[in-house]
Amino acid sequence: MQSVLRQHAEVQYAEELAELAKEDKRQRPPNWQLSPWAVRTYLMGGKLKSGFVVSPKYIGNPRLIEIAVATLATDRALLLYGLPGTAKSWVSEHLAAAVMGDSTLLVQGTAGTDENAIRYGWNYARLLVEGPSPAALVVSPMMVAMKEGKIARIEELTRIPSEVQDTLITILSEKTLPVPELNMEVQAHKGFNVIATANNRDKGVNELSSALMRRFNTVVLPLPDSLDEEVEIVNQRVSSLGKALELPAEAPALEEIRRVVTIFRELRAGVTLDGKVKVKSPGGTLSTAEAISVINSGLAMAGYYGDGELRAGDMAAGLTGAIIKDPVQDRVVWLEYLQTVVKEREGWKDLYRACREVL
Ligand SMILES: Nc1ncnc2c1ncn2[C@@H]1O[C@H](COP(=O)(O)OP(=O)(O)OP(=O)(O)O)[C@@H](O)[C@H]1O
Ligand SMILES: [Mg+2]
Repeated sequence: MQSVLRQHAEVQYAEELAELAKEDKRQRPPNWQLSPWAVRTYLMGGKLKSGFVVSPKYIGNPRLIEIAVATLATDRALLLYGLPGTAKSWVSEHLAAAVMGDSTLLVQGTAGTDENAIRYGWNYARLLVEGPSPAALVVSPMMVAMKEGKIARIEELTRIPSEVQDTLITILSEKTLPVPELNMEVQAHKGFNVIATANNRDKGVNELSSALMRRFNTVVLPLPDSLDEEVEIVNQRVSSLGKALELPAEAPALEEIRRVVTIFRELRAGVTLDGKVKVKSPGGTLSTAEAISVINSGLAMAGYYGDGELRAGDMAAGLTGAIIKDPVQDRVVWLEYLQTVVKEREGWKDLYRACREVL
């Protein structure tokens, strides 16, 4: 197990979940592994009476997490909605891990997702030999979640074609999944619910039908409010990812993270943080998740080709790649920003030079 690149949340944070369960004397909804209070603490972090420290997973408004957790305890499904890279998938996985101890009942939504992925399919070899039988049925994560009273996750709901999305309506409103071929149905057990994630920005997304929308409570995850908050998110994720990848570089100085996040926020907002200089925004989203990648690839560069300490030259290529998604328009935007902002800012000359070099 040591060499698994990415553990499921319930495995990676097994100790935290166990410590929380030990201390958790509050009422748990049917089939939940933890109370809503403990799930919130798992997501937001905190110190237990035993002195054990639970690390924060989501950095932001705790109220959003409370609404999400409370929704899961009702008969309405949860939709985490928002811009790319705002931790929708991350929160979805941790919620399922904390509530059920299992985040693996997952349907990945794509343009090719068909009804079978949500309902059930058939093992055709057996179907041909035996005809329809329970043994020939291939269950979906949704069906397992219903039978066992667990949480099913649907990633990128809006990428799924609209007519396939509608399969969910019966499941969510009737809490049953009919299997007419076997003259039976699977009824959802207590604890069953669905967490879906969707973003409204990417190309190729379908709209959610209003009938489906009504079955969900929507929680919109926002971009981080302030520079400090975003710096903290990046810092925290970079240090845990760096450990997992065993990068030979030193933990980055907060200053470098601050520079990257500042650039992202200014380009997103179209104006410098002090409000003095207007800048153009590139076409890409420049999400927090991308800032994390920029620092991470910088650390790889610093560790393998540099002196182990993250410097402007190590970040320049990653930064340029994150900002220039359209080779013509975004390049102009980035060049202008480099000239008018980066070049003029005190102590940023090294970054200006490094970025010009790779352009
Ligand atoms: N507010 C936040 N608190 C903690 N981590 C965050 C926050 N915002 C972003 N992240 C980090 O950003 C990374 C990407 O998040 P995630 O993949 O969940 O985004 P997403 O919203 O699902 O994006 P997409 O729409 O592209 O699927 C994760 O590693 C997550 O830890
Ligand atoms: Mg996602």
